[in-house]
Amino acid sequence: MNYDIEKLNEFFAEHPDDISITDIDMARIPRHISCIMDGNGRWATSRGLGRGEGHKAGIVALQDVITACVRMGVDVLSAYAFSTENWNRPRAEVDLLMYLFAKTLVDELPLLKRENVRVEFLGDISALPKKTRDVFECGLAETRDHTGMTLALAVNYGGRAEITRAVRHIAEAVSAGDIAVEQIDDALVADHLYTAGLPDPELVIRTSGELRVSNYLLWQIAYSEFYITDTYWPDFDRWGLVRAIASFQGRDRRFGGLSQA
Ligand code: FPP
Repeated sequence: MNYDIEKLNEFFAEHPDDISITDIDMARIPRHISCIMDGNGRWATSRGLGRGEGHKAGIVALQDVITACVRMGVDVLSAYAFSTENWNRPRAEVDLLMYLFAKTLVDELPLLKRENVRVEFLGDISALPKKTRDVFECGLAETRDHTGMTLALAVNYGGRAEITRAVRHIAEAVSAGDIAVEQIDDALVADHLYTAGLPDPELVIRTSGELRVSNYLLWQIAYSEFYITDTYWPDFDRWGLVRAIASFQGRDRRFGGLSQA
């Protein structure tokens, strides 16, 4: 995807000592970058704050990463905001997250419109509280025709539930006679996932140092490169992203084959 070199240089002008935007090859930016935003609670607790403050700070980090991806011309940024297992958290935290999701989308809609960003949701948003759902539906409708970056927010998302749902839809189509069993292949399965139409993530970033996948995009990450940093998500920012991309660009991706070099 295209990017504006002037806006890029302006956004990344002031850089830390260890990294700058010139450390990455703009011709090889991953098309789809995905973030497992972890560590909001620990970030807050380590500062003597309530967990909610961690989520608020996490939203600020996400805003910086969204703008950075737009500036770099990333096609798709996805982010794991709420898993199907997160309903097990205390009610007050779930309620706060649902409120913050809605507030964030309302607050960010002008920016998303200005930057031509299209919003998508991965997961079953029909199960969300009505107010959050209404804001999400509005965000979808208001950005549907945008042709810039896709921001795919995984909310009430679980990788196994997504695959089970796809299997069920395909089985229904087979029993209705709409497709033959012989037509079922990888592409057909992919077309029945929440991510239908999106490229698989080339780079998955996980913050807070945990070495697990947490039921995230199980089908789509088959050949993704992982970048795991100890940084808690609220401390992650545009420079964390640049470090992740520099690491990605230094890797030899073989997809099960042999190196080209
Ligand atoms: C993980 O930290 C983070 C979350 C559960 C929520 C992340 C959500 C956002 C940053 C906002 C997303 C915005 C929209 C509009 C959907 P954690 O609570 O698991 O941290 P811990 O592992 O330290 O407890």
